[in-house]
Amino acid sequence: MAGRIPQQFIDDLINRADIVDVVDSRVALKKRGKEHIACCPFHNEKSPSFTVSQSKQFYHCFGCGAHGTALGFIMEYERLDFVDAIEVLAAEYHIDVPREQGSFNPQQDDKKPLYEILEKASLNFANELKKTPRAVEYLKQRGLSGEIAKDFQMGYAPDSWDFTLGQPGLSKEDKTACLKSGLSIEKSPQKHYDRFRDRIMFPIRDRRGRTIGFGGRILDKGEPKYLNSPETPVFHKGEELYGLYEARQSVKDLKRIVIVEGYMDVVALAQHGIKYAVATLGTATSETQISKLSRIVPELIFCYDGDAAGKKAAWRALENSLSVLRDGIQARFLFLPDGEDPDTLVRQEGQQAFEQRLSNATPLSDFMLQHLSEDLDLSSADGCGRLSEKAKPLISKIEDGVFKDLLVNQLSKMIGLSSSSLQQHIPESKNKTQTPHYNNRAVSAKHQISMTPTRLAIALLLQHPSLAKECEIPEQLLSSDMPGLKLLIQIHKTILQTDAISPSVLVERWRDTIDAPVINKLMQLDIPEAKKDTQLASLKDAFKNLLQKHKDERLQELLNKSRTSELSSDEKSELSQLYQS
Ligand code: GTP
Ligand code: MN
Repeated sequence: MAGRIPQQFIDDLINRADIVDVVDSRVALKKRGKEHIACCPFHNEKSPSFTVSQSKQFYHCFGCGAHGTALGFIMEYERLDFVDAIEVLAAEYHIDVPREQGSFNPQQDDKKPLYEILEKASLNFANELKKTPRAVEYLKQRGLSGEIAKDFQMGYAPDSWDFTLGQPGLSKEDKTACLKSGLSIEKSPQKHYDRFRDRIMFPIRDRRGRTIGFGGRILDKGEPKYLNSPETPVFHKGEELYGLYEARQSVKDLKRIVIVEGYMDVVALAQHGIKYAVATLGTATSETQISKLSRIVPELIFCYDGDAAGKKAAWRALENSLSVLRDGIQARFLFLPDGEDPDTLVRQEGQQAFEQRLSNATPLSDFMLQHLSEDLDLSSADGCGRLSEKAKPLISKIEDGVFKDLLVNQLSKMIGLSSSSLQQHIPESKNKTQTPHYNNRAVSAKHQISMTPTRLAIALLLQHPSLAKECEIPEQLLSSDMPGLKLLIQIHKTILQTDAISPSVLVERWRDTIDAPVINKLMQLDIPEAKKDTQLASLKDAFKNLLQKHKDERLQELLNKSRTSELSSDEKSELSQLYQS
């Protein structure tokens, strides 16, 4: 099992990589002035608005707002996660990715026996299926071919208390791993037994195809119908999706993913050629799951029963989607006729008809506004007011951008109010998107951030890290709690601790943090090309302004205090100093 990649290696790799090479090998760049340009690979365009800056080691599209480092580009372009993108980048520079030793990350080491025992169990179950006509018959009768069963490595856990535990050659450690991975259950210290008995087994595999847990369906009637592995160190129900590994294996260029409720639905859809369905594991679709999917494909279709329970589940998925959705990602909802699920429906009507339903699925915005206005009378002012009240907190969860604007527009049409007056009542997005995948948001003037001395200083340090060595942060600021100052101090410190740091290393260090959005925006800020001295002077200026602001605030604070209570002698002398400065 691979350990963690050392931070030093990541820094060095990012420092060494040149964004111009990385992008150019995928999208041919043309040199224009200091910048390199191309038609943006992330949206359709005829004239190039995608620019790559060698000095910033950052790309930015003026058309769709996509932006990031060389690593970020690989993640976006090849739809990889961070670790995989590091592997790809390292391979391009012919470097092996080192992994920290197991001892550094004991948890990782603990997991190895679990992965191994789960894989073994999965193979044993698959083997057992072949030998059990009754189980094969069951799958046939549900319309599944041997080939699909194989694709999903489906199996059968025999009706035995010790099929898994009684495998020949199991060591004491293996038995512990059985217990920890949820394959067996401890009744008393001496008495363990298999969790899954007489069930069709669905192995749940992670991104890399490792089996991390199982779902098991009873063959005939019995309770419970489905049994899942418990939460274990390798299996977290709220994060994984059944079928995602298989979908990525079988469709090279996944464009959309359908989210269904059951294991059988995923497998039946695949049987009928719809090999891009995934299922949650008996839980509501979580934000983590939606976020994961939205990084893989630009279109998500949630599929639910048309009954009340289905609507409720769909609504929860909608609520969990809002803060994850970005421009460029489309979410839609498909409600099935009463009493049907994707499995029964696709078997009746086949791939084409089912895909037709998918194509006609309801956009998230329609579902949201329909649902909210269900019991309201929109011909009355009161009804319209209530609708807008109900919609506001939901809309404010969405990241600012075109999608949000369209939704506000749609709402304003429904209630007969101009969208600008409606917009005023909707609070700014609280949503902090953590990674800018598919960030197709136009950086129109409206979305640009306002400049403060702190932000200017951060932008200068990010884009010209070498300035940090020539300009110290005034000591009084180190303990100040002015907004943004902490980040400024951290960035300054990080640069001083690392030699010859490239801007992209800084961006990557802050990836997935709450500060990532502001860092990305400041990287896009156009700082006029100037001599280094001029930039240094601007930075010093910014620090000076900050110091002044800090002093003003402190002065005010002490004055306020002196009105209600006696100041200590330290405070008094601080006050008189502040007056003098
Ligand atoms: P089939 O009857 O095999 O077609 O299953 P289904 O997928 O149509 O069943 P259902 O709609 O009842 O369940 C959907 C999903 O909910 C299943 O795939 C399971 O993940 C989960 N589920 C259903 N029944 C149970 C149960 O008894 N226990 C648990 N833990 N989960 C269940
Ligand atoms: Mn079913």
